Amino acid sequence: MKLAAEAPGTIERGVEQLRAGALVALPTETVYGLAADALNEAAVARIYAAKGRPSEHPLIVHVASRSQVGDYAATVPEFAQRLIDAFWPGPLTLILPRRPGVAAAAAGGQDSIGLRCPSHPVARALLEAFGGGLAAPSANRFGRVSPTTAAHVEEEFGPELMVIDGGPCAVGIESTIVDCTRGAPVLLRPGQITAEQIEAACGRPLAAALPQAAPRASGTLESHYAPRARVRLLSTAQWHQKIQALSDLAPAANATVGLWSQQEPRPLPPGLVWRRQASDAVSAAHQLFAVLRELDACGVEEIWVEPPPAGTSWDGVRDRLQRAAA
Ligand code: TXA
Ligand code: MG
Repeated sequence: MKLAAEAPGTIERGVEQLRAGALVALPTETVYGLAADALNEAAVARIYAAKGRPSEHPLIVHVASRSQVGDYAATVPEFAQRLIDAFWPGPLTLILPRRPGVAAAAAGGQDSIGLRCPSHPVARALLEAFGGGLAAPSANRFGRVSPTTAAHVEEEFGPELMVIDGGPCAVGIESTIVDCTRGAPVLLRPGQITAEQIEAACGRPLAAALPQAAPRASGTLESHYAPRARVRLLSTAQWHQKIQALSDLAPAANATVGLWSQQEPRPLPPGLVWRRQASDAVSAAHQLFAVLRELDACGVEEIWVEPPPAGTSWDGVRDRLQRAAA
């Protein structure tokens, strides 16, 4: 069931559920998360079961404040501390060496732990009232598009799950992930906080990722964040050409293609549903997953997407689109 975050008693009910080992979906500034008590193994197992996620894929543990890092991490390298100081609370996850014996199930058996201190006021209120860390992956079934509204979460898990509705997520794509266990910062997943911002805050360059040595990260699987419809990245010239071909066909009764592009196709052929792609990276990230879900809901067979412009501010959006299209 969906509960308005601001309704009296919502946060208290969420805490009750979490203390009982149940799952609660909560809004964060990036995407909605499916939360459980990070130290309760049975509760964490419920996350994996609900998502259909392999149990060796580690989860992010969310904390209310910087002072909780030491509860989960064995050590914090100096450059990681700089990242915490620069970006927490906010859309940045750090992979740190895990304190032995702590949150092993949430960590999927890795000897590291992913930690994030979210900035969303509702996530913060829940974390503060709960007191401990909350393991929370994105609140979608494994391999599917992350939810950016409470309604998306209900689409994924049905009405049984308690969903705290905090409105649409501001960022819209998942947090930037930096691995801090390799002696130098390694970018595992691009997000709103860019590679340049990470390097500036650390005062040193990012190290290259070693694919075979990297810990398992489902968000880094080549095919991920996929809607039902087939996603194809097409240049403006390519989609214009394809639209011409569509217009030459007999009018389709139903929508068969969705298009997310900055430029509006004119004339709009029958069978095509168009959504405008924002021209700045922050707004486009905010739209991305909601647009994919919306076009999916129209029943289109293919979603054509204009590849984002060059520039590191678009890295997060580009990465999600490439995975959706893989
Ligand atoms: O923005 C976000 O990060 C959202 C919100 C809910 O906080 N969460 C999220 O969680 O995207 P999830 O589970 O969908 O993606 C977390 C990513 C996965 O790719 C996971 O494998 C990686 O973080 N991860 C977590 N702990 C890790 C670890 N110890 N080592 C390497 N990767 C880790
Ligand atoms: Mg996810």
